[in-house]
Amino acid sequence: MNAPLSFPVQIPDAASVARIAPELDNDERESLRQRAKQLLKQKDAVLVAHYYTDPDLQMLADETGGHVADSLEMARFSHQHSASTVVVCGVRFMGETAKILNPEKRVLVPEMQATCSLDLGCPAGAFSDLCDEYPDRTVVVYANTSAAVKARADWVVTSGIALDIIATLNERGEKILWAPDRYLGDYIQRMTGADMLMWQGSCIVHEAFKADELERLLAKKPGAAVLVHPEAPAPVIALADVVGSTSALIKAVKSLPNETFIVATDRGIFHKMREVAPHKTLIAAPTAGEGATCESCAHCPWMAMNGLRNLVAVLETGNNEIVINESIRARALIPVQRMLEFAESRRVEVVGNA
Ligand code: 13P
Ligand code: SF4
Repeated sequence: MNAPLSFPVQIPDAASVARIAPELDNDERESLRQRAKQLLKQKDAVLVAHYYTDPDLQMLADETGGHVADSLEMARFSHQHSASTVVVCGVRFMGETAKILNPEKRVLVPEMQATCSLDLGCPAGAFSDLCDEYPDRTVVVYANTSAAVKARADWVVTSGIALDIIATLNERGEKILWAPDRYLGDYIQRMTGADMLMWQGSCIVHEAFKADELERLLAKKPGAAVLVHPEAPAPVIALADVVGSTSALIKAVKSLPNETFIVATDRGIFHKMREVAPHKTLIAAPTAGEGATCESCAHCPWMAMNGLRNLVAVLETGNNEIVINESIRARALIPVQRMLEFAESRRVEVVGNA
């Protein structure tokens, strides 16, 4: 093998994140909320937010007829909505997926620098070289990638549908080239037994969860259910009662009888979990912790770049529009649509709020 399987990633420091989306006092928060509501109406715009973003943005999306969802449903919602402008509060690949599906719409993001360690760690050139080396493998990429990487893929998958799609490809005898999340890939490989050549990317938030600390915490909370996003390492997944997408974890909090949940995903999700199950106790799963090497401490620094100030700014200026080269977009649409059609045909619930 000549092409590399991983790429170094630069993580933004806490100070630069705080500068981009600073803490707000109540007066400023309220006046920005009112201004954003006015602008959304004036500009025929709809707000779509991921579960990891600031609760202010999630509430605003809900209050203004927008949507708070996982990555796939964000794209599908923006496609079905009649607004001519979609503002995507999340990370860049989510804005790009919305644009891939909605070329006729204007897609804006509050912060262009808001990206993802999986996307950053899988540059299109290096990935394309790897694909060239393995023409016999079916290329399956996670949604957390650039439009250019998606354009090299046979399939795009989200965490909610990845297992079903790989299981089907494996039954057909297809060998897989998987990118970029090695933990999610590893989990799917263990569950399906598929032949998967894996890119070695990772999510800096989920790889920080620690199984030994989680075991110690569980010993103190014997009735708690453990909810884990499959971007976490295998020893953390091994302790899970439920492994699933953000939507699946929110549904689990609502539907399981447990009173206490230990949650191994970005802590931004607690806002929706509290909304759907206000009387339940939610505990963040342990990461490397303060004073250690924790880069994220269970909060994505790129998701944290979205705030009311930069949301209002893009609505006012129209800046930060997602633009994708048309030949890349048209090529990337094929594997994205293939995933949506697969989900439809299987009646698999890959989307939706809890
Ligand atoms: P979901 O599609 O499960 O919301 O995951 C997106 C993501 O970035 C998780 O870190
Ligand atoms: Fe990417 Fe991880 Fe942030 Fe999700 S939480 S956007 S996978 S870095």
